[in-house]
Amino acid sequence: MQYSAKVMDHFANPRNVGEFNDADGVGEVGNPACGDIMRMSIKVKDNVIVDVKFKTFGCGAAIATSSISTEMIKGKTLDEALQLTNKAVAEALDGLPPAKMHCSVLAEEAIEAAIDDYLKKTTGKGLENKKQHAHDEHHEH
Ligand code: FES
Repeated sequence: MQYSAKVMDHFANPRNVGEFNDADGVGEVGNPACGDIMRMSIKVKDNVIVDVKFKTFGCGAAIATSSISTEMIKGKTLDEALQLTNKAVAEALDGLPPAKMHCSVLAEEAIEAAIDDYLKKTTGKGLENKKQHAHDEHHEH
């Protein structure tokens, strides 16, 4: 399987690894295709994700996608972060092998889950149907 240099870089030197003791939102998701798990913790101020950390118990592609997605959402508003698709994450890594596209879904979903958790804690209401799912290329494995 051929991985891009960017995937290898983020796998070897993952950015923003860890979690916060005082996270404003935490999202943990599992990939039903392989059983891998990803946890995203976010710190939110004035509707902006000021900091984010992740922990991934999963394959190299899952680690690389979570790493780069933390860089992509840091400093973004919650709405902007919700727009991030697994496709955009994969593109930012200069592509993933088709068989590993499903791994990039974890990052998108973990971010969503962390924002959902934050909204539930602060407003009593989560995302519910706020975001329409259009996950077309999630099942290529
Ligand atoms: S094989 Fe499980 S997330 Fe990649």
